[in-house]
Amino acid sequence: MTTGQSMTAAGSSSIGESRLDVEQIRQDFPILGQQVNGKPLVYLDNAATAQKPRVVIDAIQEYYQTYNSNIHRGVHHLSQVATEAYEKARVKAQRLLNASESREIIFVRSTTEAINLVAQTFGRERLQAGDEVVVSAMEHHSNIVPWQMICQEKDARLRVIPINDKGELLLEEYERLLSERTRVVAVTHISNALGTINPIEQMIEMAHQYDAAVLIDGAQGAPHLPLDVQALDCEFYAFSGHKFYGPTGVGVLYGKGDLLDSLPPYQGGGEMILSVSFEETTYNVVPHRFEAGTPNIVGAIALGKAIDYVIHIGLERIAYHEDELFRYATQQLSGLPDLTIIGTADSKASIISFVMDDIHAHDVGTILDQEGVAVRTGHHCAQPVMDRFEVPATSRASFAFYNTKEEVDVLVEGIGKVIEVFK
Ligand code: ALA
Repeated sequence: MTTGQSMTAAGSSSIGESRLDVEQIRQDFPILGQQVNGKPLVYLDNAATAQKPRVVIDAIQEYYQTYNSNIHRGVHHLSQVATEAYEKARVKAQRLLNASESREIIFVRSTTEAINLVAQTFGRERLQAGDEVVVSAMEHHSNIVPWQMICQEKDARLRVIPINDKGELLLEEYERLLSERTRVVAVTHISNALGTINPIEQMIEMAHQYDAAVLIDGAQGAPHLPLDVQALDCEFYAFSGHKFYGPTGVGVLYGKGDLLDSLPPYQGGGEMILSVSFEETTYNVVPHRFEAGTPNIVGAIALGKAIDYVIHIGLERIAYHEDELFRYATQQLSGLPDLTIIGTADSKASIISFVMDDIHAHDVGTILDQEGVAVRTGHHCAQPVMDRFEVPATSRASFAFYNTKEEVDVLVEGIGKVIEVFK
């Protein structure tokens, strides 16, 4: 982080003194030891998906080998073991976010599903014609399209907070957009395309002055910053398991308990009901009301292991290490000819997007791949950001706590090769 926004602790000497033993940590991630194209893998695509520590991989195998069973409905031993493990994972997610109750944690498929759930329950019930939903110009498509869909259905209006040339939200424009008509503010914690950390505490407070509910897309935030949803006071916070060193196909939606209690179901099916007849169905209590059908049992359990692992290392130490890497990488990349960093906010984390004069991002990514370096190229599911900066695509290096300065050096050398090939 380059800011005091979330990182007062990261700047403290005690964190600096208890540095991560990254070489040791890397031993926990079997995938990192391999060669790609004859070169040691340098994995810098963590914003797309993070790698999994052995404890997560083992948890998946253990589940299928020893207690695979459906949850909540069985009286037999395996079902009880699986149910207990699944519900324990919910408590782990509760602790990670500092939610006040475990029922405020809903297991979903992904951040995308979490946002769709809120749009299709809260949005469907609360939005009326003429109401407004505020998003920002740096949102991932998954925090735009679900709101567009429900706004269209309800004849409500989507308003967009603009960004400046550094990739920072214009808070005075945000203030101007807020009104009695604002029902929802949906904003990303950290931009996946720019790396900007948004001042969400302030933004939530501002939205609450108009009684608007706030959803934070934490897909990039949760893996990198310590969180406290009670202190933030947001109505909803969503993140994905696979970006949090857990498996794909599982994610978390936090919602304030009383609010969730008041919402209608999202999907119908088993588990979300108390009783069903052809005349009448009564719905289950929260969180089960929002978990129709057999959930991703093993996904939630393995995500719980990932949460344990991350908490054991410590999110403040993680943020400190990643900030050092990020600063080093920014400094090294800024010195290269023909390279422009897209997104230079004062408050950034873990993500560097860049373009190179007259070289397409896909060519950059292909040559880096030959050097064993995995970066993302494209629009990163954030086409409005590309439009704002008038670029078709960027190359994006995104860091995790297992990355090293030596890997940044390999990235920089690889970009040197790109320049050699194309100039
Ligand atoms: N949303 C993911 C990314 O930013 C896939 O790459």
